[in-house]
Amino acid sequence: RPPAATRNFSIIAHVDHGKSTLADRILERLGAMGERDKRDQTLDTLELERERGITIKSTPIRLEYTRPLFEDGTGGETYVLNLIDTPGHVDFNYEVSRSLAACEGVLLLVDASQGVEAQTIVNAYLAIDNNLEIVPVINKIDLPAADPEGAAKELEDVIGIPAEDAVFASAKAGIGIDEILEAVVARIPPPSGDPEAPLKALIFDSFYDAYQGVILFVRVLEGTVSAKDQITLMNADRSFEVDKVGTFTPGLVVGEQLQAGAVGWVAAGIKDIADAQVGDTLTGRERKTPEAFPGFKPAQPVVFSGLYPTDTEDYRKLRDALEKLKLNDAAFSFDPETSEALGFGFRCGFLGLLHAEIIQERLEREYDLDLIATAPAVVYRVTLTNGDVFETQNPAEFPTRDRMTSVEEPYIKLSVMLPEDYVGPVMGLLQERRGSMVTMNYLGKRVELVYEVPFAEILYDFHDRLKSISRGYASMDYEQLGYRDGDLRKVDILVNNEIIDALAVIVHETKAYALGRKIVDKMAEVIPRQMFPVPVQATIGAKIIARATVKAYRKDVLAKCYGGDISRKKKLLNKQKKGRARMKQIGTVEVPQEAFLAVLSTD
Ligand code: GTP
Repeated sequence: RPPAATRNFSIIAHVDHGKSTLADRILERLGAMGERDKRDQTLDTLELERERGITIKSTPIRLEYTRPLFEDGTGGETYVLNLIDTPGHVDFNYEVSRSLAACEGVLLLVDASQGVEAQTIVNAYLAIDNNLEIVPVINKIDLPAADPEGAAKELEDVIGIPAEDAVFASAKAGIGIDEILEAVVARIPPPSGDPEAPLKALIFDSFYDAYQGVILFVRVLEGTVSAKDQITLMNADRSFEVDKVGTFTPGLVVGEQLQAGAVGWVAAGIKDIADAQVGDTLTGRERKTPEAFPGFKPAQPVVFSGLYPTDTEDYRKLRDALEKLKLNDAAFSFDPETSEALGFGFRCGFLGLLHAEIIQERLEREYDLDLIATAPAVVYRVTLTNGDVFETQNPAEFPTRDRMTSVEEPYIKLSVMLPEDYVGPVMGLLQERRGSMVTMNYLGKRVELVYEVPFAEILYDFHDRLKSISRGYASMDYEQLGYRDGDLRKVDILVNNEIIDALAVIVHETKAYALGRKIVDKMAEVIPRQMFPVPVQATIGAKIIARATVKAYRKDVLAKCYGGDISRKKKLLNKQKKGRARMKQIGTVEVPQEAFLAVLSTD
């Protein structure tokens, strides 16, 4: 099929603006499966995604669209439309940008009752950076609160997309779908590229198949790829022989070849997903393209947390489960780690908090594990007094003040969209999180705030706080900015006078006291009473900054034990402990999972 009849596009939107609904509606219109109940076979696949209503993995679909015959004699041509789905969360923005790089255009969807939100702007700029044609679609015009013209005007004011270009639609009611399809073929340019040139194909996603190895999702930019070709992955510098190629309709359909302009899949017996990372370029082993597709970034975890089995017997089971998850996820990392308090476990790296939550939930549900997770941490860069620089994401390894000359921490550029009524409180929150303002843009009755904020400051309860002080109206998105100096300290937590390594946190000097207070109070609340009073302390170096006490059982509980009989006493206490899951025995004290996340508690 000549490339001129192809359109490669994607739908981008703020969360809940109706991306999946529109995709389903387009599928339905073009005779592909589109009913909601068949959805698990089409765009959103993971169970978790459906529950949370968000898209994590992107899956392309190849559709055929035949234009209607118009009165002026035009129409009737058939096009191949490759619809490339994109993940809908900031943790996966790199994947989004690579998926977009596989397209020539996007449908930028805006909810007519909500208007432009933070992710609308970020996604629109990802599309602009990739030189894509943007077709603005104002969705949900069926809603009584819809203001389609207002939303179109906002797009023009904020992003500079002419309001008259907007297509008005309702994905739910099936309004405007024909106009959208016509806009796709009329406005989005066909792919270019020479099928005779050396192969150049961009990997925009991949997954691991137990029989065929890693399946690469590719956009062929130049040249042609077919079975038996010898290929090289340019950034990984690994070579393979192609087993099969094909397209998506959805599901994998084997084809003969993929030519410049095509979107499809390649299986080449690749065993390790780390060799086939998103953003890498496929080329011929003998006939190489002069330059790889620009912008490759190896998947790099930015948030780390320790995962320990509650039952030490489950260590191997946990390791096997992590290995299985890793097969399908190059962005996830894990390394064995030992904690004095928690025993053997793993230090795991994630793209963000949502990614961390997804992995942890899958471990518990699909692999039936009970886990203790330590508080998430970012990667700090420490310069020691001897001049050495080292990076650490483990607070337990963070040096004391006298051993280092400086520390740097990662910053993000955060944008928040909100109604002007909430600007004051939200600015207060950002200030409290050590943010500094970059810009503030008024847009009718709404405001976009752009701040530079330490990444660690939004890891904890930031999103919840933002939502609650803006009554749900604020939306946010962010990108990583790089490292800045910070006056950071390690706060240790002691239970019964012993340092619990897994509870250490890194915090800015100005916040150390308040955080220490919060953690010890929370711990004193969640640690069950023991036979003796248990002191809980927060320290910086040798200095105690906060303390609290878990009171002992009241005497009458133990009075029944006739004093001396230790074994009876133990029996009684053990009985009371029964049924409390996720406890970890630390020395003589039992500490529940909640305690390890005391730092995350909002109250
Ligand atoms: P993510 O996958 O999380 O990015 O969300 P999404 O953008 O795919 O949103 P989704 O399609 O799941 O739609 C969100 C909600 O809006 C759902 O409850 C839809 O039924 C509803 N919705 C989508 N399109 C329309 C529309 O045109 N009109 C109305 N009234 N509701 C709509």
